[in-house]
Amino acid sequence: MNEKTQVGIIGAGPAGLLLSHLLHLQGIDSVILEARSRKYVEDRVRAGVLEQGTVDLLCDTGLGDRLRREGLVHQGIELRFDGRSHRIALSDLTGGRSIWIYGQREVVKDLIDARLEANGSILFEVDDVKLSGIDSSSPVLNYQKDGRDYELNCDFIAGCDGFHGVSRKSIPAGVLRTYHHVYPFGWLGILVAVPPSTEELIYAYHERGFALHSLRSPEISRLYLQVEPGEDSNNWPDDRIWQELSIRMATDDGWTLKTGPILEKGITPMQSFVVEPMQYGSLFLAGDAAHIVPATGAKGLNLAVHDVHKLAEALIAWFSRGTEELLKQYSANCLDRVWRVQDFSSFMSLMLHRYFDDDGFRGRLQRAQLKYVCSSDAASRSLAENYVGLPHV
Ligand code: FAD
Ligand code: DHB
Repeated sequence: MNEKTQVGIIGAGPAGLLLSHLLHLQGIDSVILEARSRKYVEDRVRAGVLEQGTVDLLCDTGLGDRLRREGLVHQGIELRFDGRSHRIALSDLTGGRSIWIYGQREVVKDLIDARLEANGSILFEVDDVKLSGIDSSSPVLNYQKDGRDYELNCDFIAGCDGFHGVSRKSIPAGVLRTYHHVYPFGWLGILVAVPPSTEELIYAYHERGFALHSLRSPEISRLYLQVEPGEDSNNWPDDRIWQELSIRMATDDGWTLKTGPILEKGITPMQSFVVEPMQYGSLFLAGDAAHIVPATGAKGLNLAVHDVHKLAEALIAWFSRGTEELLKQYSANCLDRVWRVQDFSSFMSLMLHRYFDDDGFRGRLQRAQLKYVCSSDAASRSLAENYVGLPHV
């Protein structure tokens, strides 16, 4: 079966869904091909922290109703070490900017609802997506659905299919330069049915390893523990997780961690990954398909949003005015922010995680850096402006 669309989008994660939404607002047609089911995509826990610029974009494009109602605005975070907490006053340090807690699940649900309400085309559970003709101006997506073969003819293809997707791998060998760094730590993340034990996020440095207390709602907490990179979650029964979190987050003033039933448990490796350029012919990569950042800076979803904001602007300029300038600049514009965010996420990761093979030297540097960040106005301001996110330019 033959079909046609202006932009063929691979992947119904935040990047693909938001791109389709932004294009639709300007009358540009797209089709999203997603390998998984709607339930699977909506249930993936993942990110929770939205930058101010991400929230502004979602609200400005009609996606803010539930976000404004249920999202939690945070004006500071805590850095905790040596048994004491130090507040980084994000909003005071950045002229009033803040971050919002609103889970990736909710962002994805809102986007899917908006696309389907507008009769947008999202095809879930498609198999065997193949790209061809990407070096021409009439690229094609072939795929299977319910055992039948389909062909989708496009003007452009957006590869929004995450780190393990097919689009990046369809670019001929030798075109992309790849940067990949694997950090010697992983995260064990849990989602818990218990009210948060804190009002603001706590990033804790401890000699037994990093720990993070985040949240999803007044009833649901999200916590993370540094573990070995290839760790098996079966080695972490619930009791061990709670015991370790309590030790790593303990303070001298008797702060206590509330425990509750663990709803979900998962292990994530920490890595930095970038391909340059983020384009080949009529294929544009966006989000995790082009780059991964270590989670400590809470930036992956926000970067994906920035990419598709830029890509949508460029495609709109092309379709409405025939101008190719922004499409040509897409990769360079995105990569500027990608590397800024890589640097910040790497800074946060290296400052806060324990190196289990440390002879003591790294630990001393980390504590010196933490003390500096918490005591110097310039250093806290730098952390704050990166954490709330630099404006989209
Ligand atoms: P994905 O969300 O990976 O979506 C890609 C989609 O493509 C998927 O639905 C996939 O099924 C589909 N797909 C893949 N291959 C194919 C194929 N061949 N054909 C069709 N479809 C395909 N980011 C933040 O900003 N803040 C945070 O606080 C944060 N915390 C995180 C915590 C954890 C534990 C993890 C794992 C990540 C976190 N991130 C965070 C990162 C964030 O979740 C990702 O950066 C974000 O999901 C990227 O969105 P995406 O749309 O580019 O890719
Ligand atoms: C969350 C995830 C992060 O990677 C982070 O740095 C802070 C919070 C979260 O899932 O809430």
